[in-house]
Amino acid sequence: MTGSSRPSNSAPIGVFDSGIGGLTVVSELRRAIPHERILYVGDTARVPYGGKSAETVTRYSREISDLLLIEGAKMIVVACNTASALAVPSLAPDYSVPMIGVLEPGAAAAVKATRSGRIGVIGTRATIASQAYTKAIEQLNPELSVNTIACPLLVPLIEEGLLDDEITEAVLRRYLTPMLAGGIDTLVLGCTHYPLLKGVIGRICGPGVSLVDSAENCALAVKELLDSDPAKGSSTSSGLDILLTDCSEGFLRIAEKSLALTIDSLSVRRVGN
Ligand code: DGL
Repeated sequence: MTGSSRPSNSAPIGVFDSGIGGLTVVSELRRAIPHERILYVGDTARVPYGGKSAETVTRYSREISDLLLIEGAKMIVVACNTASALAVPSLAPDYSVPMIGVLEPGAAAAVKATRSGRIGVIGTRATIASQAYTKAIEQLNPELSVNTIACPLLVPLIEEGLLDDEITEAVLRRYLTPMLAGGIDTLVLGCTHYPLLKGVIGRICGPGVSLVDSAENCALAVKELLDSDPAKGSSTSSGLDILLTDCSEGFLRIAEKSLALTIDSLSVRRVGN
């Protein structure tokens, strides 16, 4: 069992992703639980996770989770759909603090949102290949039909800061057109990077398609957990500290400009071999 000593209430909530994407979850956490301190790790040395094997994503996720525990995190929010799909089920039992992924909250929100029963899911290659969303949605309601597509070009475009760019829009149209032709009324943004493209995705899909943001729903799940366990909430010092596993030029710009996040400290920490 990893992390046997019990962190105090004022300990930070640990959050991680491969890169910038998990900051969409941090942004929702700031809104849902503004009094909590957040320690975010962006594994910028090894982004993207989405084309890697389950074994590699699990190893990376374990290394980052161990780092968060060393830093005293009272819970671990896996702000990455790829790691939530591939690593959380095998990792969570090994940790003494709660580990919350983004997948179940996203699936539950999609089931709630659909009226026609036809749901689309976009995500990384690894998330889509795992069929984790399809299984989670079907478990909640086996009557629903789930259409999925991997969008491997989106994370590099987002990490490059091409959020409102004709290239990104063209790529999105290529991915989404066949799915929209199949008639969905709900689209799950099954990668925490994708809410940064919500504007253009919404334009392409039109008003008849509800966008389900796994970031927003994960933040609500974290708030529920804190509210239900007085031993976990609440922290006495709010704020956001960021650790990156390598330098990343666009990181601060996107965090501050696109997500309006105020960062208290930013440092680089090497992880793994
Ligand atoms: N933002 C992550 C996700 O939700 C990881 C994307 C990647 O690194 O490929 O899947």
